[in-house]
Amino acid sequence: MTVTSAILLVGGMGTRMQPLTLSTPKPMLELLGRPITEHQIMKAKEAGIQEIVLATSYLSEVFIPHFGDGSQFGIQISYAVEEVALGTGGAIRNAADSLRSDGDVIIFNGDILSAHSLQEQIAFHESNDADISLHLTRVPDARPFGVVDLDEENRISSFMEKMENPPTNVINAGCYIFNRTSIQKIPHGEVVSVERQTFPEMLKDGARVFGYIDTSYWIDIGNPSALLAATRELLQPSASGLGDDVAVDASAQLLGGTYVGAGSVIGPHSIIENSAIGRGARIGAGVRLTRCHVADGTRIPDGFIAEGQYFGFTELTGENPYN
Ligand code: GDD
Ligand code: MG
Repeated sequence: MTVTSAILLVGGMGTRMQPLTLSTPKPMLELLGRPITEHQIMKAKEAGIQEIVLATSYLSEVFIPHFGDGSQFGIQISYAVEEVALGTGGAIRNAADSLRSDGDVIIFNGDILSAHSLQEQIAFHESNDADISLHLTRVPDARPFGVVDLDEENRISSFMEKMENPPTNVINAGCYIFNRTSIQKIPHGEVVSVERQTFPEMLKDGARVFGYIDTSYWIDIGNPSALLAATRELLQPSASGLGDDVAVDASAQLLGGTYVGAGSVIGPHSIIENSAIGRGARIGAGVRLTRCHVADGTRIPDGFIAEGQYFGFTELTGENPYN
């Protein structure tokens, strides 16, 4: 038996990423010129997944023109749109109705990049005859995440979402495999949190829930600085990347870990370092940006100097408003 279906949870509001997420859902924010969702779809495809349902809600209209029916990406893609956001559990239950296969399903939080092997997670799930398997990783501070207790056989005995004093730093890394029986147990058409309701309830009922611990590269793109960090880390060390039709003035410099999105212009004598520039941005002359994120279409005026800032959705004119 092997897993060939996936659900991507991409319906969240991305509140912590505003204003980046006012017009772009968080999973559609770009890393190296491709939406996070596209990186995940390609990873799923490489692991042998054949069909993906995008569970969308907030700004659902943004996904369809980009991914279509998936043929461009060599994978079947369909959409389960929640009129009213159903929460992570409700979204899984709702999206599962659109799957063609009836095998176990891999489920991704839509704001994660992870280098763990999906095939190994699937093999782990199958060898444990698990109802549900969770990818787990370790972080220095587990407070913003879900944490689990596990026994020596990696069977999970409890799941606690976001607590003040987590007893462990082993966290839910946001990639699950569910068998269909477990999905069918989630109430249909109701708002359900997989973290706060489904996991604790299934554990109470004695379900076989296992944790696959893997600590390879993993990042939760939960805030603008994580998006920048991921951009830097995905780029080759000290290399920069360019989208299509970028106009970088010959006197401008792009230094280590900078990505410039398609159609952007970088003016004379500007120095852009460790930064992510969106599509169609206009960077003036003599600008100096270090560890900055510039959203799509943003204009940065001549002579502007900034470090560690996010810019977007406002046209900057004249004085540097951050001075
Ligand atoms: N379709 C749909 N509908 N998707 C949703 C909904 C919804 O109502 N609510 C959230 N999502 C999607 C989000 O878009 C995101 O991709 C994913 O579900 C997780 O939601 P977040 O809002 O990003 O949760 P979190 O980051 O606070 O915590 C989650 O991720 C952590 C790992 O990064 C939890 O799963 C934690 O347990 C986990 O540790
Ligand atoms: Mg998140």
